[in-house]
Amino acid sequence: MPSIVSVNDLQKTYDSGFEALKRINLEIEEGEILALLGPNGAGKTTLISTICGITRPTSGTVTVGGHDVIDDFRGARQMIGLVPQEINLEPFMKVQNTVAFTRGLFGKKPDPAYLQDILTRLSLWDKRDAKVMELSGGMKRRVLIAKALSHGPRILFLDEPTAGVDVELRKDMWETVAALKADGVTTILTTHYIEEAEAIADRVAVINKGEILLVEDKADLMVRMGKKRLTIALQHPTDQIPDALSRYELILGNGGETLTYTYDTEGERTGITALLSDLSAAGLQMRDLQTGQSSLEDIFVDLVKDPA
Ligand SMILES: Nc1ncnc2c1ncn2[C@@H]1O[C@H](COP(=O)(O)OP(=O)(O)OP(=O)(O)O)[C@@H](O)[C@H]1O
Ligand SMILES: [Mg+2]
Repeated sequence: MPSIVSVNDLQKTYDSGFEALKRINLEIEEGEILALLGPNGAGKTTLISTICGITRPTSGTVTVGGHDVIDDFRGARQMIGLVPQEINLEPFMKVQNTVAFTRGLFGKKPDPAYLQDILTRLSLWDKRDAKVMELSGGMKRRVLIAKALSHGPRILFLDEPTAGVDVELRKDMWETVAALKADGVTTILTTHYIEEAEAIADRVAVINKGEILLVEDKADLMVRMGKKRLTIALQHPTDQIPDALSRYELILGNGGETLTYTYDTEGERTGITALLSDLSAAGLQMRDLQTGQSSLEDIFVDLVKDPA
């Protein structure tokens, strides 16, 4: 199946001379939910704005539904709904009017039933006659989503959709994205909440300093990079790990009270049984045992941390 979004050798250097994107290649499949993760300044917003044809690439090409975003901006833009990171709303406009107005900008006829449907989905129907200025921050963010959906786009870009949104509404937003996926809508979102990517993404792309470090199926990524940790609390603290245990690459912590062993979840043998018997042979007595699994968050932090 051809990709719905195709990014080829995309590079962006701002007028200031700053290179925000370095030869990005990315294919996005129709109907998937892709989470873009990356620290502040990684280039997420630049990438999204370039795909949406708002920021001009320095070199490379982007097509959306087969339309080149520069040469056929209107064709591409028609397919896209964009929720920008910054809230930019007309304070005096009523909720339903601002959403209907945006639909009009795309040259679409008014469709009250569709308008009601999206406002209801986003729990904004009760607020349809309120002025934007009378809304809370989280409600304003949902108005942005309603505007982005107003013309029935096939691809939705959400740049930090749940920044400043409370837990309950965040979950509502996840449900909205899932419902859109069921209608075949493709969603690309950026987020600083890794749990958000963990909860809703099909694939995860990690971007840092203008480069994509990986794009991978979320479940595969968690299996491939997921590590398990076994923490052994000792009966008596020790100040060094006996040589006989060196092959386990244990880490001594908590003032010598704990030993941490990290092992691959994929590996056939975890080595735990051997470790425990070698531990007692080395004269270390164990008080307690605990296991933990690394989360997407641990994986992400490992990927983007600066080499020390
Ligand atoms: N208009 C601009 N002119 C010059 N530099 C810019 C411009 N917009 C962004 N940048 C720079 O490009 C880099 C990437 O910015 P971008 O907004 O894409 O990051 P981001 O990943 O979205 O970060 P955040 O998580 O903080 O939203 C940053 O170093 C930023 O300072
Ligand atoms: Mg951003």
